[in-house]
Amino acid sequence: MRVDRHKAHWQPPKQSLAMYVHVPFCASRCVYCDFTISLNKHGGHQAYEEALSQELEYRLAQLPKGYYQSIHSVYFGGGTPSLMPARWFASVLERLNHAIPMAAHCEITLEANPNAVVDAPADYLAAGLNRVSIGTQSFNANELKALSRNHSAEDAIATVQAFQQAGFQRVSLDLMYGIPQQTVASWNHSLQHALALDVGHISLYGLQLETGTPLERLIQTGAPRYALPDEDTTADAYELAQETLANAGLPLYEISNASIIGEESRHNLTYWQWGHWLALGPGAHGHSQRLEGPVQTENADTVEAWQANPTGGLVKPVSSQEALENRLIFGLRTRWGIHVAQVAEASTLNEKLLLSRLNPLLKKHSTALRLEEGWLRLVPQYWATSNQVLQDVMGL
Ligand SMILES: C[S@@+](CC[C@H](N)C(=O)[O-])C[C@H]1O[C@@H](n2cnc3c(N)ncnc32)[C@H](O)[C@@H]1O
Ligand code: SF4
Repeated sequence: MRVDRHKAHWQPPKQSLAMYVHVPFCASRCVYCDFTISLNKHGGHQAYEEALSQELEYRLAQLPKGYYQSIHSVYFGGGTPSLMPARWFASVLERLNHAIPMAAHCEITLEANPNAVVDAPADYLAAGLNRVSIGTQSFNANELKALSRNHSAEDAIATVQAFQQAGFQRVSLDLMYGIPQQTVASWNHSLQHALALDVGHISLYGLQLETGTPLERLIQTGAPRYALPDEDTTADAYELAQETLANAGLPLYEISNASIIGEESRHNLTYWQWGHWLALGPGAHGHSQRLEGPVQTENADTVEAWQANPTGGLVKPVSSQEALENRLIFGLRTRWGIHVAQVAEASTLNEKLLLSRLNPLLKKHSTALRLEEGWLRLVPQYWATSNQVLQDVMGL
C-alpha cells in the first residue's frame, strides 16, 4: 500500500521487536509517584537480576521461532535504571542480541535520575546504551522540593552535561507541569533551561494526582507549598510549551513529547503505532506475537510478587477489535495521526467500512478531528482536551 512520503514517519519494520525492561529501584519514593518501585538497598539487586534473567529466557522461548528478525529498540525504564552498573546492561544486551540480532541503529535508552548514576556515563555508552532520558521535572528549587525530588536544578544540569560530554548524542529530559506552586512564568523558566541544554527530545508530563499517594494527602492539608495551579494555568502552560518548543525547533510529535525532527523516540513510536514489544520486570505490559496469535502480557505489579514468579504474568489474546481501537487511540496521540487504509489493512475491516464507522466521529468532533489525504488526525490545538475524542474512539 502507498503511504504519502511527505507525511510518513518512522514506523517499526514488520516482524521487528522492541523491548522494555522495568528496573524498579529508587533512592527514595517521590511523593507523587505510584510506579512499581522498591527502595534501593544494599544487596537488593541480586534477586532482581536473577528473576529478570529467568523472565528473559522464558519470554524469548515463547516467541515463534524465527518470527522476529531484528530488535529496533530497548528501553530500560524505572524506577531508576541508572542505579544499575553498566556491566549489567551489557550482559542483558548481549543475551538479547544472541537471540535476535539488534538492528544497525537500534535505539537503546537508559532512564537516569540526577544524583543517581552509579557508573561513569562513558561506561554506559561502552555497554551499548546510546540514548539517555533524564528525570529533571523542574528547574525551580521550590517545585523540586514540593515534589520531594532529591536533587537540585544544578544537579540535573550537571547530569545532562556529563552524559553529553561522554558522547551521548541522544539526550531527553522529562519535565512536569500542573505541579504544586507552578506558575506560567516558572514553567517558562523550566522550558528555557531545558532548551539551553541543547537536548534533542523533551517529554512533558501533566501531574496525575494518584490516589493514595502522599501528595494527595499533602494537598488536602491546604498548605500553600502544595497548592496546585488552577485548570486555566495548566492549560496555558501546555499551550506555552507547544509554542515555545515548536519555535525552538522541537515541535510536539505526540501529546506529551517534543523533539527535533528525526529525534523522535522509536521506542515510544512502537507503542503509539501498536507495534510489538516484549516487556520484562515488575508491572511491565507488553504486546507480542505467539504461535496462537498476538497477545498482551501483564506482569505482577509489585516487586515481591513478580520476583516470586517472574514467568507467571497474565497473557491475553488481542481481539481484532482491540487491535483496531489501540491503533486509533495511540495513533491519534501523534502529530501524523493514523493512515486509514493502513489501519484497515492491519485489521479485518476494509477501508470503506472503517471510514463509514469513523464518519459519525468526524461529524461529532468536526473541529478537533481532520481527515486529509487519507490521514486521520487530532488537531494539535485540541491535544490538551483530547480525552472525550479518544473515549469516543473506544466505542467505535
Ligand atoms: C516513571 S518515571 C522514571 C524516571 C525517573 N525515575 C524519574 O523520576 O526521574 C518517568 C517519568 O514519569 C513522570 N511521572 C511519574 N509519576 C508521575 C505522575 N504521578 N504524574 C505525572 N508524571 C509522572 C516523571 O516525569 C518521570 O520522569
Ligand atoms: S525517582 Fe522516578 S520512579 Fe522513582 S519514585 Fe521518583 S518519580 Fe517514581
